[in-house]
Amino acid sequence: MHLKIALLGGDGIGPEVLAEAVKTLRSVADIFGHNFTFKKAVIGAKAINDSRSPLPQETIDICRECDAVLFGAIGSLEYDNDPDAQVRPEQGLLQLRKELGLYANIRPIKVFHHLIPGSPLKRHIIKGTDFVIFRELTNGIYFGEKKLDRDGTHASDLYEYSEGEISQIAHLAFKAAKKRSKKLTLVDKANVLETSRLWRRVVMAIAKSYPEVALECIYIDKATTQMMLDPSRFDVILTDSFFGDILNDQASVLLGSTGILPSASIGSDTAMFEPVHGSYPQAAGKNIANPVASILSVALLLQHFGLEEESNAVVSSVLLSFNKEVVTSDILGSSKYGTDYVGDYIANNIVDTGDILTM
Ligand code: IPM
Ligand code: MN
Repeated sequence: MHLKIALLGGDGIGPEVLAEAVKTLRSVADIFGHNFTFKKAVIGAKAINDSRSPLPQETIDICRECDAVLFGAIGSLEYDNDPDAQVRPEQGLLQLRKELGLYANIRPIKVFHHLIPGSPLKRHIIKGTDFVIFRELTNGIYFGEKKLDRDGTHASDLYEYSEGEISQIAHLAFKAAKKRSKKLTLVDKANVLETSRLWRRVVMAIAKSYPEVALECIYIDKATTQMMLDPSRFDVILTDSFFGDILNDQASVLLGSTGILPSASIGSDTAMFEPVHGSYPQAAGKNIANPVASILSVALLLQHFGLEEESNAVVSSVLLSFNKEVVTSDILGSSKYGTDYVGDYIANNIVDTGDILTM
């Protein structure tokens, strides 16, 4: 298969972890006989410095002409500490999601056996955790009109949704639940927010077309506690962009490190794959960042294009690295391996076994 892949390293550790993901892709191409070609483009703080825009038009064009985008990370301390900045790196990512119509962000959270000792939760709580979050990505409060009055004492963000925006991701989530454990949890704040009540109405109506899937609706405050007390009760979680942002990061804590979780953002056309973690500027250039989230994003990319065996080969190689404790210091505590060493190990251990595992 020929795939054209745009590489957007972005800020902080983004370019370093992305480089390891590319090693894995090259290894998969060699072993399984595919042809992957890459095109680099800028986004985020670096793009602002070079061209004053966090998302230059050229980057959008490159992404559009590729089959998929591999993304690193975005954000820099310079902007985090400046609420008055007129242009922010994050705007680049938000605009790119909108431009590519990536309305669904999908984040699988599965506890790997070898990582259980590294979780801050007790073994009996964390064991068996295996769920996936469907986060709406291109609407809601993130994209509503933003206002700050002239004297800077009053601000507002418009939180809005329409039926179509809810139903397109809801159908994806129900289809996923149908293939999994047939349980879907809608997370909202329908006791307070009108937008959440619309979500409930739309999702409850759609549930009738998926009679085999059990729907439960819970409030965001309850969901956050349940995720810590009983994470294995979840199968597919469906939520909006704001609650989803928070739940995603909370879920990553379950595994003991944010450095291992991948995500896929999909829509009508070019899909994007990115680690859940941020740009972690303090670690940039030190060869200590965990490349696994970026490498597992490659597994999601391969799966998206129907390359199941290839995707499984990547997951198997990552599991081997956990098993052999060839990991960065954020997991299992005592490791001394660097980003590139772990990346090489995973790329060098991709094998075509013909096995199908599921991630
Ligand atoms: C994420 C990130 C982004 C978001 C930021 C960088 C805009 O935190 O992908 O979760 O909030 O969506
Ligand atoms: Mn986030």
